[in-house]
Amino acid sequence: MKIVVKKGEITEFRTEAVIVPCFEGRRELQGKVKLLDKKSGGLIKQIIGAGDFAGKLFELSVRYTGGIIPAKRIVLVGVGKKADFTTEKLRGAFATAARCVRSLKIKGFSTSLDFIFSNRPRDGIARAVVEGVSLGLYQYTSFKTIDRDKIRAIKKFTIIEENEKAYNIIRAAAKEAEIISCAVCFARDMVSAPGNEMTPTDMAHEARKIAKRRNVKLKVLNETEMNKIGMSAFLGVARGSEEPAKFIILEYRGGKKSDPPVALVGKGLTFDSGGISIKPSEKMDEMKSDMAGGAAVMGAIMAAADLSLKVNAVGLIPATENLPGGRAYKPGDILKSLSGQTIEVLSTDAEGRLILADALTYAGRFKPAAIIDLATLTGACVIALGDHVTGMMGTDDRLKHKIQDAANATDEKVWELPLWEDYHELIKSDVADYKNHGGRPGGAITAAAFLSKFVGKYPWVHLDIAGPAWLTRDKPYIPKGASGVGVRLMVQFLKDWQKRSKN
Ligand code: BES
Ligand code: MN
Ligand code: ZN
Repeated sequence: MKIVVKKGEITEFRTEAVIVPCFEGRRELQGKVKLLDKKSGGLIKQIIGAGDFAGKLFELSVRYTGGIIPAKRIVLVGVGKKADFTTEKLRGAFATAARCVRSLKIKGFSTSLDFIFSNRPRDGIARAVVEGVSLGLYQYTSFKTIDRDKIRAIKKFTIIEENEKAYNIIRAAAKEAEIISCAVCFARDMVSAPGNEMTPTDMAHEARKIAKRRNVKLKVLNETEMNKIGMSAFLGVARGSEEPAKFIILEYRGGKKSDPPVALVGKGLTFDSGGISIKPSEKMDEMKSDMAGGAAVMGAIMAAADLSLKVNAVGLIPATENLPGGRAYKPGDILKSLSGQTIEVLSTDAEGRLILADALTYAGRFKPAAIIDLATLTGACVIALGDHVTGMMGTDDRLKHKIQDAANATDEKVWELPLWEDYHELIKSDVADYKNHGGRPGGAITAAAFLSKFVGKYPWVHLDIAGPAWLTRDKPYIPKGASGVGVRLMVQFLKDWQKRSKN
């Protein structure tokens, strides 16, 4: 879909459909909506007056203008009460309207931000609108072969703005939001792809595409190379699979040479069967999404490069399958990690922390200013927080704050869980330094406590995205399935990080 910001007058613009967001319970029309109403012979007033449309959140009404104005249809979409207005609702409203338009077999539609009466800055409004439309229209159709011609897709979305100054602001914001949404959809595509089509090798191929950009370098370690440096925790997990494991390292250098990078580490289990501690078969298919952290990291690096952010960032993605092969690692095995510390394997299904342990230690080679990992790490986190929220644990309050700020700015919700000393007791092993399973109570936290042992001295935050990475029902601008969670959050974090490098 092409996203265009154009200078002009929306009421005079020829379009298949014009989307008009409306607040609930406002009988008096204002500004551009009033003008559109007037020019269309009181059509909007009629719809509202007849009680057909009240502006309730995500409420829709489609009307044909009969040629009174150049726009063929007016699509009213509710954004709820003005007092409760949020950009999150705006994303949802535009996603809902865009899907409605798509269902009408229309190829293009338009809107104007002047329909939205809010004193919020235009750039934030523009970003939310573009994100809502592009993320809400996402569909994964690569493997549909029947009736492909019936798959509907919007080709063009136009935002019309008459004011020169606002036009420039909106254009820049829309471009930025388009780049970020593209990165989210890139991550969604990777996560949606089935395990047989998104192997560790395939992930490395995707990384190669990202590395075509300016200032991005790619290095992929194979098993021999990893063996040489002693990444035996990661390789232990990989042993049960015939698919060769890959350690993907994407370096983006947009900042000063001397600036230490931010290290983003993403769990890349292209399929997690649980290994010898095998999972129940029900819903096991969803474990193709166990590389969502890795996909989010790759999307974030991609967007950082496309936005030419003035930061240095390195993405580290340990990618493997977890399968119960004849040479698979077993409960009771002891693995020696890259850090030199030993790990007793109590469950081969607690594999994420093992591959992350080595990746986190490896991240230290970059002397990073901060390490953030994203991982679909524990079912316990889903039980604790549900599927709306990312669990956050870490060792550095300032870093946690920055992530919370990014969460507030993007509406990708993050909630902190404690990482107190008490929990660390639970992962001590009788025969090795640590065990990879701390029992069911506080499972999300003991997993984080385990990771903390491999981070070294760097400020670190762990984000458990097991809940929000894969949705079993639609959300306003996230169709069910892969959400691409973490991309917008990390890009926002990196955007904010630029300010830090300046002073
Ligand atoms: N990938 C899973 C966690 C997961 C569960 C993600 C549900 C998304 C949805 C992880 O590797 C895992 O299996 N964790 C175990 C850990 C336990 C064995 C300590 C879990 O959560 O049950
Ligand atoms: Mn597992
Ligand atoms: Zn897993």
